[in-house]
Parts: sequence; C-alpha cells; structure tokens
Amino acid sequence: MHNQSSAYTALITGASSGIGLALTRKLLGEGWDVAVLIRSDFPADDQLLQESRKRGQLRIYKADVSSFTSLRQGLEQIKSQEASIDVLFNNAGGSFDKLMYSPQGRELHYEVQTVAPYIITMEMVEQLKRGRLKRVVHTSSNAFDFLKSFDAATLARPASFKKLTGPYATTKLAMSLWTQAAAAAMEQEHGIVMRSVDPGPNNTLRKGTGSGLPFYVRPLMKFFFPPPTRGASLLYDGAMGDAPAGSLLAKGKIKALPFATQAQAVLSQMEQIYNQEYQSATPIDPPAPQQQLVIPS
Ligand SMILES: NC(=O)c1ccc[n+]([C@@H]2O[C@H](COP(=O)([O-])OP(=O)(O)OC[C@H]3O[C@@H](n4cnc5c(N)ncnc54)[C@H](OP(=O)(O)O)[C@@H]3O)[C@@H](O)[C@H]2O)c1
Repeated sequence: MHNQSSAYTALITGASSGIGLALTRKLLGEGWDVAVLIRSDFPADDQLLQESRKRGQLRIYKADVSSFTSLRQGLEQIKSQEASIDVLFNNAGGSFDKLMYSPQGRELHYEVQTVAPYIITMEMVEQLKRGRLKRVVHTSSNAFDFLKSFDAATLARPASFKKLTGPYATTKLAMSLWTQAAAAAMEQEHGIVMRSVDPGPNNTLRKGTGSGLPFYVRPLMKFFFPPPTRGASLLYDGAMGDAPAGSLLAKGKIKALPFATQAQAVLSQMEQIYNQEYQSATPIDPPAPQQQLVIPS
C-alpha cells in the first residue's frame, strides 16, 4: 500500500499526454506522489517519469474509462494500492470526430467526460477522505459558451453531431452541472470539495490527433495556443484555491453555468447510472497485480 510518506498524492486521469501529462510532470517536480489512470502509455523517453517511476513516486494504473469493465479493473487496483488521495484530477477527455458509443451504449463523449468522472469520484471517496486536502477537480471547457440549447435527456443518444460544439460541449457542460449540483452534499457528508476548471486554450496537437477539431481550430491551436503547462497550472490553482465547492473556474475566476436549471436532472442521471448499473454489476475477480508500465531506462 502506498502513500505512507508526508508528500501529497494526486490521482490524475488522462495523464499520458497534453494537459494531464504537463500536470503530472509539474506535481512530480514539486515532490508530490502521483498515481495516474491512463489508457495509452507515457512517452518512453521522459527522464523525469522514468526516475519517478523507479522511485515509486509515480504509480501507473491502466484503463479505458469509457468501458465499465476496464474502468472497474483500474479503480479496484487503485483502491487496493493507494491508501489516500489528496487531489483527484478527472482530466481524461477530448473532442472526437464522429458519433460513437461506449460499450454501455451511451454516446462516447458523455461516457468519458460526464459519466466516468462521476464514477471515479464516487469510487475514490474513501481514499479522498483519508487524504489531507480532499479536493476533486474536473477538467471542463468553454466550448459550451456557444450552446443555444441544452437537453439533459438527449445526452446519451444525441440526434446530431458537430465537432467541438456538439456532444463535446454538451457533455463538458453536463459534467460541470452535476459537479455544481452534487458539491454541497459531497462537502457536508465527506468534507470533499469538488470544482470544475476550464484549462483555457492549450496546444495539445500531436501526431495523429486533431481530427475531432473543426478545421479552423487546428491552425489556431498550432500557432496561437500556449503549451499545456498553462492548462496544468490552471487545474492546479483550481485545486489549491479557495473557490466555493461546485464552482466552475475559468481564467481563475468563478463563471456562472448556463442551463443551471438542468443541473439536478444531470445529477439524477449520474446517480441512476452509478447505483443501478455500475454498482449492481457482478463484481470482478480480486485485482490482479498492478499493471506496470515498463519504461526503458
Ligand atoms: N487543449 C485544450 O485547448 C483544451 C481546452 C479545454 C479543455 N480541454 C480538456 O483538457 C483535457 C485534456 O485534454 P488535452 O487537450 O490535454 O488533450 P490530449 O493530449 O488528447 O489528452 C487527453 C487525454 O485523455 C485521455 N483519454 C481520452 N479518452 C480516454 C478514455 N476513453 N480512457 C482513458 N483515457 C482517455 C487520452 O488518452 P489516449 O491518449 O489514450 O487517448 C489523453 O491522455 C480534456 O478533458 C480536454 O477536453 C482541453
């Protein structure tokens, strides 16, 4: 079991690239212990990651968060290995290039960016309660500023698709809405403060990515957006600051959420999926030994 040291411990999803990778590197550099839940491997040539891995300061768990089978396996391993978590960063996400569905039959952005953060948060409550900071930060977006309508009932099976301003935007908003609706009870019952944070624009283009972005965004990203260390700093500040639980922070300031009258409806969907689908499924076998990423030295 890890986390017997005096360092803070973070759990970061989507840490293998972009903002999550920059945040992982930042926290390791500041002496934090970092557990990551990732689908793809880290870059193999990163010396900080290699050394942190060898010291046990960086611990790697693997999952595709869109699949309950895979997510459950990853979360059970974390629960069996990590005694406490100070800050959970639910960061995995992205804009996909077409309508796709998760193994559970829900639209993929919805599964990855709205449902999975709820499940990961609820499954990590005991670890967070044992942590000293007791914070959860969800990576949001300003993409929903462009939404003219929002209907919680269509999140799982949207009728139409648009890159970035379609299901990507609605499901980021849905995640910030349930965060707002669930935050007070989470703080009162468990002492855990949950917020969502817009990391702002960041250049996270890499080979083979960007197809989920409208054509005009890619050159903007390439030539004008700052590096992902910028978004990582905003997520970090959002976690460590004192904004009220449930807030959405953008550029470090609290921002009102549109369509807030539907926050409770989105939260009810999360509770139903978690209680009736995730929790009631047949438990998996006891966790196998922790999957280790072998980073060539
Ligand atoms: N870049 C921006 O300007 C910007 C602005 C606002 C918000 N954001 C948000 O910031 C977060 C990080 O994105 P990024 O810009 O850093 O892009 P990125 O480099 O593509 O990082 C996305 C991360 O999420 C992971 N991920 C996606 N689907 C997953 C799944 N099903 N299971 C497990 N992991 C999954 C990816 O893993 P794989 O490599 O395996 O796909 C990757 O590690 C996202 O939530 C994004 O929506 C970004």
